Amino acid sequence: MKILVFHGSPRAKGNTAWMVDEFRKAAEAAGHGVEVLPVGRMKIAGCLACEYCHGKGAGACVQKDDMEKVMASVRECDAIVFATPVYYAGMTAQISAAIQRFYAIGKPPKATKAALLMSGAAPDFDPATATYRQFIGVMGLADAGVVTAAGDENRSPAKAEALAALAKGF
Ligand SMILES: Cc1cc2nc3c(=O)[nH]c(=O)nc-3n(C[C@H](O)[C@H](O)[C@H](O)COP(=O)(O)O)c2cc1C
Repeated sequence: MKILVFHGSPRAKGNTAWMVDEFRKAAEAAGHGVEVLPVGRMKIAGCLACEYCHGKGAGACVQKDDMEKVMASVRECDAIVFATPVYYAGMTAQISAAIQRFYAIGKPPKATKAALLMSGAAPDFDPATATYRQFIGVMGLADAGVVTAAGDENRSPAKAEALAALAKGF
């Protein structure tokens, strides 16, 4: 299975990056192909709601930024993993912008599954998890699992195991 990972933190070596790496290693060991896109550090603007994509653009966004590269990978993948730190109870602005730009294509053409990896200081993941569940429902993706890590759980052996189990279950 071709798994696309949206790494939504601006920190290249932070706690979310650790979760992505643990997931990636286990997924590759299980025979999956994994592509990690650092959407937290890419130039992706918010949706303009101009409707160009649903008219003249025929699925292409009027904004020419890094989302073009992201969409090329979205069109090819079988599953999408969203990885984000919690910022004021939600996902980062960067990954949120990328998610909202799916408006241009409607639904990913091939992907059937999704998962969510989240890192926070405190164990309050409910608002961001609800956003994820609502989004994948609209996209027609089945939830393959959610792994969260709060405070000292970040970079812990227990969470490495949970991430490996999630990866093997794809
Ligand atoms: C702008 C900002 C807002 C944050 N808001 C929350 C929050 O609401 N709840 C929480 O538990 N942690 C919050 N945090 C802490 C991060 O989620 C936490 O440190 C996380 O592990 C960072 O992941 P990273 O190392 O991948 O960037 C916030 C951090 C920042 C920078």
